[in-house]
Amino acid sequence: MNERYAIKVPKERAENLKRKLSSMGILDAGYKPIRRDEWIYFPVKGVGEELEKLVPEYGAEIEKTSFEPRILKPRSLKESLKDVIPKDLLTLVPSSYDLIGDLILIELPNELEGYSRIIGETLMKLHPRVKSVLAKGETIGEYRVRRIRVIAGSQEAETIHREHGCLYRLDLRKAFFNPRFSGERLRVAEIVKPGEDVLDMFAGVGPFSILIAKKCPGCRVTAIELNPDAYHYLVQNIRLNKVEGLVTAIHGNAREVLRSKKNSFDRVIMDLPHNSVDFLDLGLEVCRPQGIIHLYVADTSIQEVSEKVEKRAASLGHSVVVEFAREVMAIAPRRYTMVLDLRKRC
Ligand SMILES: C[S@@+](CC[C@H](N)C(=O)[O-])C[C@H]1O[C@@H](n2cnc3c(N)ncnc32)[C@H](O)[C@@H]1O
Repeated sequence: MNERYAIKVPKERAENLKRKLSSMGILDAGYKPIRRDEWIYFPVKGVGEELEKLVPEYGAEIEKTSFEPRILKPRSLKESLKDVIPKDLLTLVPSSYDLIGDLILIELPNELEGYSRIIGETLMKLHPRVKSVLAKGETIGEYRVRRIRVIAGSQEAETIHREHGCLYRLDLRKAFFNPRFSGERLRVAEIVKPGEDVLDMFAGVGPFSILIAKKCPGCRVTAIELNPDAYHYLVQNIRLNKVEGLVTAIHGNAREVLRSKKNSFDRVIMDLPHNSVDFLDLGLEVCRPQGIIHLYVADTSIQEVSEKVEKRAASLGHSVVVEFAREVMAIAPRRYTMVLDLRKRC
């Protein structure tokens, strides 16, 4: 406890005075206000004319009393590291990172390599429920699995993540998952209509398929996944979210699974941004006329990619119109993952 100057005010006028003190920069946020009988005591930074003027206005009094110091939690990772990392490197500390279940995934520039452990440990202090902090590497191969490195906490990378009320069990070392797509998944799930046959061509652990089934129990979803580990989680997640009757999970290569499925789906989700365009022929074949294809692509401009895709569809003997397009997330300077909603005309 520390003896400090206080302005004490009848409790019914305390809120107004607090606002006034804050706006004048007089309130000492390092200490906790006290309630004593019908009075509230606010710690102040010092006594002067400005403060004295408030006394008659608020029916207040100035006196000295003991306050308990407030333990101020740093607000951000950068702020927490300001005494640990040199100033020139501090600017490179990311201001955002992903919370996936009880894991944190963070992208660290090479310059911070020597500080990765302290960054990880600091993140664990800021998020006490997190069990490990993982540094992001590249996303590689057909299965789009990320290289990751544990920088603090347990070596385990399996977790259960909650998104829009659904639960997804997943292991980031074995299967793809990106929480930054959550808004896009919701957008798609909210436009699906009852009665639709929906195809999730590259389903991963199921975040599109399961959310669609939850939001639109009147539709039928087919989810295809090539990676055996991701498929294993997809099946578990269908059960975990109780949508067994609504989502059919198929393990295999979409090209083989969809043979002889011409004009079978009203909506086709093609979430394989690095090479979805190579599967456009398949998407167009299995989508019914007037159906929608949600095509995810990695590129630099919506305009250019829309023209490219329309031309590609024409060369495959189909006509499509881009009904909606947007950048979903930045993946590099001037490079984005984008979505094009294509209406198949024929
Ligand atoms: C970018 S991830 C998207 C996963 C999921 N849509 C999501 O939101 O998390 C692409 C997924 O497609 C799978 N995949 C890649 N090629 C495939 C193919 N030919 N057939 C089926 N799945 C494939 C990968 O294993 C990976 O899980």
